[in-house]
Amino acid sequence: VKYGVLGTGTVGQTLAGKLVSLGHEVMMGSRQSGNEVAVAWVKSAGGSASEGTFSDAAAFGETVINATNGAASLDALKAAGAENLDGKVLIDVANPLDFSGGLPPTLTVGNTDSLGEQIQREFPEAKVVKTLNTMAADVMVEPSLVPDSHNVLVAGEDADARAQVSGMLQEFGWPAEDVLDLGSIVAARGMEAYVTLWLRFWAASGTRILNIKLLAATE
Ligand SMILES: NC(=O)c1ccc[n+]([C@@H]2O[C@H](COP(=O)([O-])OP(=O)(O)OC[C@H]3O[C@@H](n4cnc5c(N)ncnc54)[C@H](OP(=O)(O)O)[C@@H]3O)[C@@H](O)[C@H]2O)c1
Repeated sequence: VKYGVLGTGTVGQTLAGKLVSLGHEVMMGSRQSGNEVAVAWVKSAGGSASEGTFSDAAAFGETVINATNGAASLDALKAAGAENLDGKVLIDVANPLDFSGGLPPTLTVGNTDSLGEQIQREFPEAKVVKTLNTMAADVMVEPSLVPDSHNVLVAGEDADARAQVSGMLQEFGWPAEDVLDLGSIVAARGMEAYVTLWLRFWAASGTRILNIKLLAATE
């Protein structure tokens, strides 16, 4: 599959690197082509890796991943261009965190809305799927780092798109039964708000290698 990965941070590099290692073609996007981090990533990742602007990467990808700063994601996606996103699965891993008031961060959007929903509204022809935002980058692509079984959450309006993303997650090493499909993109409200609790889990456990598991009685 051809992936456009928007974002040169830890998450963009981690997801793009994993996808290349799985044999996919990946273009990493940033505000300007020739971004130092992206160029270094292309060198280290090898053959099927390339880099360009947000727009280049979105045009390249059959599937596009938003791994940009959550407070700037709408701007980054506008730069990517609706014409390069329409009809495609747009995987959103961003968290709308606002660090302007110091720590802990607050959310730029929440309660009655979410970044995932904002993106879906702004790009109605894209099939937005929120996932992977509830864990550290290392865990996203190597779930076995966390002991026992644990969940990755998926939410989006389009059931086929959610299934496609579940397939990518299984390629990453997530057992199918650990991919928890929450249905509508409205679930992004909870997935994004959870990150404020995740930060507390990090402090309480002393490690970022942590995750959650839904335990429920069988009815
Ligand atoms: N770090 C984690 O483990 C983790 C875990 C879960 C979710 N997340 C979420 O994943 C996303 C990526 O996180 P990250 O730590 O890898 O990187 P980040 O530092 O949050 O974001 C870096 C990316 O955002 C772009 N960006 C920053 N300001 C921008 C602006 N004003 N306009 C357009 N683009 C802008 C940068 O563009 P350039 O490339 O041009 O500089 C870069 O590609 C975030 O939303 C974060 O909350 C992170």
